[in-house]
Amino acid sequence: MHGLAHRRILVKVGGETVKVAADRERLARDVAAVVRMGAKVAIVHGAGPQITALAERLGIASVMHGGRRVTDAAMLRAVAMAMCGEVATDLMGALLGAGVDALPLPAAAAGIVVGRKRPPRAVPGEAEPVDFGWVADVDRVRAQPVEALWASGLLPVLSSLVADASGKLLNLNADTLVTALVPALRIEEVVLVTGVPGVFRNLEDPRTHLPYLQDTELPGLIRSGAVQGGMVAKLEEVGRILHQGAERVAIVGYQDEGALTGAVTDAPGMRTLVQRSAA
Ligand SMILES: Nc1ncnc2c1ncn2[C@@H]1O[C@H](COP(=O)(O)OP(=O)(O)OP(=O)(O)O)[C@@H](O)[C@H]1O
Ligand SMILES: [Mg+2]
Repeated sequence: MHGLAHRRILVKVGGETVKVAADRERLARDVAAVVRMGAKVAIVHGAGPQITALAERLGIASVMHGGRRVTDAAMLRAVAMAMCGEVATDLMGALLGAGVDALPLPAAAAGIVVGRKRPPRAVPGEAEPVDFGWVADVDRVRAQPVEALWASGLLPVLSSLVADASGKLLNLNADTLVTALVPALRIEEVVLVTGVPGVFRNLEDPRTHLPYLQDTELPGLIRSGAVQGGMVAKLEEVGRILHQGAERVAIVGYQDEGALTGAVTDAPGMRTLVQRSAA
């Protein structure tokens, strides 16, 4: 058994990562392997492409700023349906098939995450502050329900849907949810499973892959314009995740068999590992 006993690992899986059954099953086997090594694992998932596809079918346009979604009332319904109805249940099925006792629940459940509606905020490259609609800023996190699930040998699968103190549902970028959970759950290691095996200086050129980054390099990388779309929001959160106390964050691609196990055991493989600078 590798030395992962009781290590607290938060795995975030993007929506694209779990669209296809074979991809979900590969990821589920990978999660099962890490659980067997004795780690305490929680999963957080997004649902970007599933939300966009469902919204399109419902005639709702998707608006994004800085890699983050604007959520009006109609979009919030689509978010809840795609997030909890589609992605969470698909992921649960794959994990059950791999022998993992997965329990899907929105992050709002049992008051795990309580937020409040985000006020309009400045976004790099936008002249006016952006009103993101029914999107949360996190107020507080209650770790106890997750600790209780872990103590019962269950694996929590958290959808990035939270609520305010009155129970009003709010959307939250899944990478931002990870940041909020890290200190409350005393997470030691975060693995972000996404559509690419890490960060590239130029996404078109595989030779520009960046295997190691320090948190201090992230703002410059974002400002340089080298990263786009969801990777902008992701790298903003990676900086915060490290600041919140995680030892390291790995960004891995879902296409690679054993990408998660490889990241947490430091096996050779293509990924970006981000750590706090020693200073
Ligand atoms: N320079 C870059 N290096 C790596 N990825 C990049 C870069 N520029 C843009 N990207 C894009 O950012 C994407 C990751 O963000 P995205 O929000 O789409 O996925 P996710 O966060 O995993 O999923 P979800 O939003 O559903 O939770 C990559 O799949 C890639 O297409
Ligand atoms: Mg994203």
